[in-house]
Amino acid sequence: MQKKMADQSYSLASHIKLNNGLSMPRIHLGVYLMSGSEASPAVKHALEAGYRAVDSAQMYHNEKQVGHAILDYLKSHPELKREDIHYTTKLASNSDYKQARASISKSVKECGLGYIDLFLLHSPYGGKKARLESWRAVEDAIQDGEVKIGGVSNFGEKHLDELLASKPKVKPAVNQIEVHPFNTRSNLTSYCQQHDIVVEAYAPLARALRMKHPTILELAKKYSCTSGQLMVRWSLQHGFVPLPKSVRKERIVENSQIGGFNIEDADMKKMDGLDEYLVTGSSAKQWQTVFKHALLKRITAEQLAAPLKELARKQPSSGQDIANVLLGFRAGKGGADDPLLFRYIAQVLSASYVDTGDILLALLTHSASGNKTGKVPSGGPQSSGLPTCEERIFTLLAQLHLNDTLSTRPRDANKTTRAITQWLKVTSESEYNTQLASAGLNTLDPFSYGMYDALASLAITIFGKHSFRTVAKQSWWKERRSVVVQEMVNFDMHVLQWMQSQLSGRLQALSRMPPFMETDADGRPLLTGQQILDSLTDLPSVRTRAGLYVWLNACLCGRPLTDDMTMLGFLQARYPGDNQNLAIDLLTAAFDVLTNAVLRKEVRQSVQIIRSFICNKMPVLLSVMAAYLAPMTAEACIQMAFTHIAMEALPPITAGSADVRELLKRTRLEFLQASGLHGLVSEAAISGILQEPATSLPRIARYTKDGLVSQCTNNAGRLEGFAEDLQAMQGNAGAVAGCIVEVITNHCMNKDTMSLKTVCTILIKRIPAMDIVMQYATPGSLLAPLCSLLHDWVHDQDQTEFTPSYEEFASILLFTLAVLYRYDLTAADVGLAGADNFVFRLLDNVSSTTSVSALSEEQSAQLAKWADGLFAIDEHGETSGISDDVMRHCPPQAFYNIVPALFEQSVLACRSNALSISTLKGGLELLLEPFLLPSLVGGLSWLVKHSWEDHGDADLLVQVLDKLLKPSSSSQETQAMHKATLAMVATPLIRSLQELLRKRPALKKAANGLIALLMPHLGHKRADHSSRGEAQEWASTQDGGWSCCVRNSVRDIVAWTSGVGPSPPTKYTHKLFIGACRTIGPERVLGAMVAEIKEQTARGSGPQALDVCVAMIIAPTVSYGATGFLTVRDHLRLLSLDAPNLMDRPLGEAEALVRLSRRVEAQLAAPQMVQMTLPIAVQEQSSDQMMQELGLTDANGAPDASIAIPMAQAGNLAQTSTADFTTTDFDAAMSASVDLTSAASQDLANLVSSSDAMQMDQSVFGDLDINMGQPQQSMSLQGNDNMMADASNVQQNQEEDIFADLMGDLGDDFSFT
Ligand SMILES: NC(=O)c1ccc[n+]([C@@H]2O[C@H](COP(=O)([O-])OP(=O)(O)OC[C@H]3O[C@@H](n4cnc5c(N)ncnc54)[C@H](OP(=O)(O)O)[C@@H]3O)[C@@H](O)[C@H]2O)c1
Repeated sequence: MQKKMADQSYSLASHIKLNNGLSMPRIHLGVYLMSGSEASPAVKHALEAGYRAVDSAQMYHNEKQVGHAILDYLKSHPELKREDIHYTTKLASNSDYKQARASISKSVKECGLGYIDLFLLHSPYGGKKARLESWRAVEDAIQDGEVKIGGVSNFGEKHLDELLASKPKVKPAVNQIEVHPFNTRSNLTSYCQQHDIVVEAYAPLARALRMKHPTILELAKKYSCTSGQLMVRWSLQHGFVPLPKSVRKERIVENSQIGGFNIEDADMKKMDGLDEYLVTGSSAKQWQTVFKHALLKRITAEQLAAPLKELARKQPSSGQDIANVLLGFRAGKGGADDPLLFRYIAQVLSASYVDTGDILLALLTHSASGNKTGKVPSGGPQSSGLPTCEERIFTLLAQLHLNDTLSTRPRDANKTTRAITQWLKVTSESEYNTQLASAGLNTLDPFSYGMYDALASLAITIFGKHSFRTVAKQSWWKERRSVVVQEMVNFDMHVLQWMQSQLSGRLQALSRMPPFMETDADGRPLLTGQQILDSLTDLPSVRTRAGLYVWLNACLCGRPLTDDMTMLGFLQARYPGDNQNLAIDLLTAAFDVLTNAVLRKEVRQSVQIIRSFICNKMPVLLSVMAAYLAPMTAEACIQMAFTHIAMEALPPITAGSADVRELLKRTRLEFLQASGLHGLVSEAAISGILQEPATSLPRIARYTKDGLVSQCTNNAGRLEGFAEDLQAMQGNAGAVAGCIVEVITNHCMNKDTMSLKTVCTILIKRIPAMDIVMQYATPGSLLAPLCSLLHDWVHDQDQTEFTPSYEEFASILLFTLAVLYRYDLTAADVGLAGADNFVFRLLDNVSSTTSVSALSEEQSAQLAKWADGLFAIDEHGETSGISDDVMRHCPPQAFYNIVPALFEQSVLACRSNALSISTLKGGLELLLEPFLLPSLVGGLSWLVKHSWEDHGDADLLVQVLDKLLKPSSSSQETQAMHKATLAMVATPLIRSLQELLRKRPALKKAANGLIALLMPHLGHKRADHSSRGEAQEWASTQDGGWSCCVRNSVRDIVAWTSGVGPSPPTKYTHKLFIGACRTIGPERVLGAMVAEIKEQTARGSGPQALDVCVAMIIAPTVSYGATGFLTVRDHLRLLSLDAPNLMDRPLGEAEALVRLSRRVEAQLAAPQMVQMTLPIAVQEQSSDQMMQELGLTDANGAPDASIAIPMAQAGNLAQTSTADFTTTDFDAAMSASVDLTSAASQDLANLVSSSDAMQMDQSVFGDLDINMGQPQQSMSLQGNDNMMADASNVQQNQEEDIFADLMGDLGDDFSFT
C-alpha cells in the first residue's frame, strides 16, 4: 500500500510532484461516458467549482467539447492562463509509431488547447512492439511541445517493467488504473510508488456501485461527509490522484469538497479491508459475454431472464455499463440491427437492470448522431430499408412508458431528462446546421424523419406523464428546467415544424405546462395570463336568446345606443356570416325587451323608445340585411321570429294581462306595417304572419332622409310636420332623424342661424323625441356642429337690431343645453373633449359666481349695462327695458357668462334696499322673454347653490321664483322654451325648496306652491341610473345585496333561456348592473358573475351563463366607465393576466374567469375585423335617385302624395329599400364594407388557425395514440459478422499472455467500441 498521507489537507488547489519535475492537480474531473453535449457543461461546472484538471481520452469522443469548454472558461476568466488548467487525453489504440504520433497531433488539434498536459497510452493492448512504438511517439510529442507529460494507463507491473527496461527517453510519470476501497490494487500501487510513478485512480467512486455499503455509510456518518467524499478522500490519503466523474453539478462540487475531514488511520485500514477486487468494468465484461452468447445462440429474451437475474446477483453492474454493452452490439455499416437486441433491451429495462436514461445515453454514445454535428445518421439501416436503431429504440421506450411497463422513477428522472434533452439538442443542432448549409434545400430522408418523429413521441410520452411533474420537487430541476425547455422548443421549431411533423407544436405546448413552466418560490407555476388562457379548454360557444336580450336591453335603458355602427358592429361579431339567425334573433330580442319593459312597468317614454326601435329601426336594419338573407327572405325571418315571441306575457286572468297582450299585438302589427313600408313583407303576407283576417292598412308615404332634407333646407318650418312622425310607429322615424341631423349640420355649416333657430324652436317642443333621433345618431353628430356654432358666434355690432340675433342664439343654446342635459352628455361624449367650447364652459360655470371684483373691466361694464337695462326705472316707474345698446356691447356668450353675477348683484341690491322687490321682480321678468330665456338656467342654478345659504333672503327669493317659474307668455313657443329651461333646474330647485321648508316652516305655502309648479318638469333626464327605490331594494336584498341581485339576475336569465318554447323573458334591467358597479364596485360585480358562472357550469349551463355575462359586460353604457373608472371588463382583463392570482383561486373560479375573459375579448376584438365585412348593400345610387327612378318621389325628393304606397305594392320594393338607410354613420359603415382588404381576410384566417392551434395544444396529452407497433420480429440476423469480428478482436487481445494478470484491469471504457 502506498504511503499514507494522513493529516494532510487537500483541496482542488493541491498539486502533486511528478518524476519529471513538473506537478499536476491532485483531483481531476473524469469525463468517461459523457457525450460531447454532456461534457461541455460538466467541465464548465467543474472549472467553476475550482477543478483545474480534466481526464479525457480519444475513446470518449469528447476531446473537442472538453477542450472548448476549457477555452471558453479561460476566455471568461482572463486572470487564468492555459497553463493553469491540466488536460489529459489518451491514445485510443497502440499501433506503429507513425499512426500513434499522428493520433497525438490529432488530439492536440481536436481539443484546441495548443498542447496536451498529460498524454497516456490508454491500455497495454496491441503487443510489445505497438506499446513501445506508441510510447516513442509520446516521447517525440513531448519533445515537439505537443505534450508536456507522458504516462500510461491500465499497465500492470509487467508492462511497466517492459517499458522501463526499454530505456525510454522519457520515463512514464503516471499510471492510471482502477483503484478504490473495493479494489485497492496494493501490489501495483506499491510498485508504482517505488518507481516514482504517480497512481491516478480511476473509478475512485467504484462507479457508485458501493455507495451504500454499510462500512462506507458508517464512516461517512462518522466524518459527516458523503460516501463519494469519503472515497475520494481515501484515494488522496493514499497518495493517489482520484478522477471522480459526474455530469451533475452538485455531485461535481460534492466530490471535490474533501478538505474538511481526515480519515483516521484505523478507518483507512477498515476501508482498505473492503477490498473485494471489484473491477467495475469486469462485471460489464461478464454481461457482455452473456449477451454475446445469447445473441449467437438466438436465445429468446424470456429464456434469458433467469440467467440475467443470476448474473445481476453475482456480478452487479451499473445500468450505464449494461446499456453500453448492449448498444455496443450495434450493427456495423451495411447491416441491420439484430431484432433480438431490442428484445434484450426491453428485457433489461423491465427487470430494472438499466433505466431509460442508461439506454438513451448509451445510444447517444454509440450513435453517429450522438457525437457529431453533421447529418444524422447515415449508413447501415438505410441500406436495409428498415427503421434506424435510434428510431426503434425511441419507439420501444415510448411504448414501454406509454403502457406503464416503465415509469420514470424519481431517482431516474435526472438521468432520463438529461438523456432526452441531449438527444433533442444533438438532433436539432445537427438538423439546423444541415439546413443552414444547404440553404434549406436539404430534403429529409424517411429514416431521419422516422427517427425524429419517434424521438418527439418519446419526449412527449415521458415529459407529458403526470408523474413526471414530481421532478419539480427535485433540487437539480431548478437549474435544468430552462435548458430542457429550450431544447424542447428548439427541437419543435428546427426539426418538427420544418419537417411538418404531425407532432409539431406539441413539445412547445408541453413546455408551457408544469413542470416545465417557471415556478415561484413555493413551487407554483409562474404563468402568464396568456398561458393560462391557452391551456384551458373552452366550453361550447352558444348564442342564447338571453345574450341578445341583455345586450339590447342595455342599449335602450338610458340614452339609446343603437346607432348603426354600434349595433351592426356587435351583431356582425356575434353572428359572423349567419344573417338569418341574426335577423330572427334580433327581432325576437327586441320583442323580449319590450315585454320586459311592460312587465317591469317602465315609464311610458321607455316603452315608446322600445316600440319605436321595433317599428322604425328594425325594418331599416332588416332592409339592410335583406339582400344577404338568402336562401331565406326577410318575410320568412320575421315569421320565424314571431313564433318565438310570447304574446301572453302574463297569465290570461292576471290584472293587466290584456293590456300587455294588446300592446304587443299593436306593436307587432305596426312593425309589420312598417316592414311593409320598407318592402320587407307584402300586405297579403301580414295577415298570414298574424294569422288574422286581412284588414285594410293605412296608406302611408315612405320618407327618405334625402327627400326630407331637400324639403327642409329652404323651408325649415316644414320640419314641424315631419317631426311628428318621429314619435310615430310607421317606419319613417329613421328618415326624420337622419333629416334632423343633416339639416342642423347643414345650417351650422352655412351659418344659417335663422333657419337653425326655426329648427331648434321646433325641436325644443319635442325634447323627449330626441330619444328617437339618438337611436340613429350619435350625440356628436347632432350636437357638435351646434356647440361649435355657439362657440364661434359672430356678434356684429353694426346691426340695427340685436334682439333677433339674441333670439336665434337663445333657441339654439337652449336646444343644445336641453339635449346635453337630457342625456348628461359631456364634452367627450360630443367629441369636443379639450376643445374649451363655450357651451361646456358655460355648463361648468353655470352656478358659480365670479365675484364682481374678479370680473374683467369689460364684464363689469357689461354687467352694469344689463343691471341698468333690467332695473333702471323711468319717470313713470317702469323699467326701461333692454335696449339695443345693452346688447350691442355684449355678445350673447358674454351675457350668459355674467348671468349668475347679475342675479347675485341684483339680490344683494335688493337686500340692501338699493332695489325694491317689485323692481327686482319686474327686471327679472324680462329674462323670461324668449331671446333671454336660457339665462334662467344660470340664474336659477345660482339661486339653488348660492343664495339662501343663510336663508336670510328666503322671502325675497320665493318671490323671485314665483315670478320666474311661470312663463311670461301663452305663446306655445315661449312656453316650450320655459318648460325646457325648467326641466334643467327643477330637480335641484325642488330639493332646495324642501330644505327651505324644513328651515322656514312659515314659508310652507309659498314653497309648496313653487314645488307644485316645478313637479311637472321632473324626470326629463334619460340616463341609465336606477331609481332610488330600485337601488334601495337591490341594496337590501338578502344574502348579499347588490352582489346577490347580480347573481340572481344571471341565474334567472339562464333559467329562462334554457327553457323550451316561447316564454316571456325574465325581468331584467341593465340599470342593476350599472348600479352595482357604481355601488359595490366592478370587482365585486365580476366576483358575483364568476361565482354564478362557476355554479352554472357545475349544473351544465356554463355556456349559457357565459353568454349572458359576456353580454352584460360588453353591453354599451353611456355613463359608467366613460371616464376614469375601471369597468368590469378592465378588472376581468387585469385578473386574467394576473397568473399568480388565478393560481390562488379555486379551480372552478379561475376557469370561469379565464373563459369569461376569453369570450369578452373575442367578442370585443371581432367587430373591428368583422365590421369590414358587414353585409351592407353598397349604396351606389342615392336613395332619391332610386325613388325617382321608381316614380316614388318628385324631383325634389318629396314623397309624392299621389303615390302613398299601398301595402300590397310595398312588397315589391324589397331590394330598393336598402337605400333608405339614412344616417351618415351608416354610410360610413357601408363604405367600410367596400374597403374589405385581403389583409383583413387574412387576419380572420389567422384567427381561425390560431384557434385550431389552441385545440391542438389542448389535446397534447390526449392524442398520443401513436402507432407504435412492436419491432418486427422476423428480421434476419444481419451484421452479425461485424459483431463477431469485434468480439473476436477482444478475445484475441485477451489471449495475450502479458495480460494474464490484467484481466480485471481493462477499463470497459475502451472495450465496446
Ligand atoms: N483509463 C481507463 O481505462 C479508465 C477507465 C475508467 C475510467 N477512467 C477515468 O476515470 C474517471 C472516473 O471513473 P468512472 O467514471 O468510471 O467512475 P467513478 O468516477 O468512480 O463513478 C462515476 C459514477 O458515479 C456516479 N457519481 C459520481 N459522483 C457521485 C456521488 N457523489 N454520489 C453518487 N454517485 C456519484 C456517476 O454518476 P453521474 O455521472 O450521473 O453523477 C457515475 O455513474 C472516468 O471518468 C475516466 O476519466 C479511466
